[in-house]
Amino acid sequence: MPLVTKTISEVREQVAAARRAGRTIGLVPTMGALHEGHLSLMRRAREECGLVVVSIFVNPTQFVAGEDLERYPRDLPGDLRRCDEVGVDVVFAPEAEEMYPPGDSTWVEVTGTLVEGMCAPHRPGHFRGVTTVCARLFNIVGPDRAYFGEKDYQQLKIIERMAADLKFPLAIVPIPTVREPDGLAMSSRNVYLSSEERKAAAALHRGLRAGEEAFAQGERNAAEIVRAARRVIEAEPGVRLQYLELRDAETLEAVERVARPAVLALAAFVGRARLIDNVVIGGADRQCRG
Ligand code: PAJ
Repeated sequence: MPLVTKTISEVREQVAAARRAGRTIGLVPTMGALHEGHLSLMRRAREECGLVVVSIFVNPTQFVAGEDLERYPRDLPGDLRRCDEVGVDVVFAPEAEEMYPPGDSTWVEVTGTLVEGMCAPHRPGHFRGVTTVCARLFNIVGPDRAYFGEKDYQQLKIIERMAADLKFPLAIVPIPTVREPDGLAMSSRNVYLSSEERKAAAALHRGLRAGEEAFAQGERNAAEIVRAARRVIEAEPGVRLQYLELRDAETLEAVERVARPAVLALAAFVGRARLIDNVVIGGADRQCRG
């Protein structure tokens, strides 16, 4: 079993001992309710690092008022079993007061084009909460490598920016999206879906693939690629799209014609679950379809 701790001081001790022994430190930040998507990050960290630290913390500052903070799935015993299977060394599962003690008043916020579109306008303050907690985790653990999923594409790009701008001496390692056999991206929030909604949710990835297919057929006009995806998704009455956008894969600026790698990204409500997904088009195909 991994060493499980709620305290910053104990994590620091574990990391310091591993450093003295010359080990590389890997960090996998999560909010728990671990599934195969998380496990693929942890397995990669296990392959590449001498000490693997997984954080499990449902970070309150990244939930916007009215979102699912209270009912977000929590399963620490199950999570610890999964961490054990992968050979994780340390699980850091702090209480909110450990991360945000009374008097706490510092935020870390990325500005500019990365936070202008996609999820940002629909979840005001969300990414500020994500960067604030990740900067703290980077300072607590001091990893050489930190692992993030491409499923949360905008988050990945924002974290890369934040780590570079704040001169954190670490590598951000992107991991391809792990999917269910019908293409649905794995997510802790998939447990919110009824069996009927679960079937409807498969339309999201079908739509993204229709966009990819339009590109593969030679379409370069962004509006047409988006339309091809939208048509497939809107044919499924159980899905309510929040946004569907084609953006530059690095800057996340809106594109009109695809001349460089671009990300076709969406958020949608299926029942009460808000799900996100994306595919990168015009780049190397690293999305996992299994
Ligand atoms: P969470 O949603 O628990 O995700 C933790 C990490 O797992 C993220 O890097 C996410 O992109 C990755 N992940 C989730 N589903 C995945 C999938 N199907 N395939 C591949 N990777 C997947 O993202 C967060 O938590 C939080 O915002 C966090 C970064 C921990 C900050 O609180």
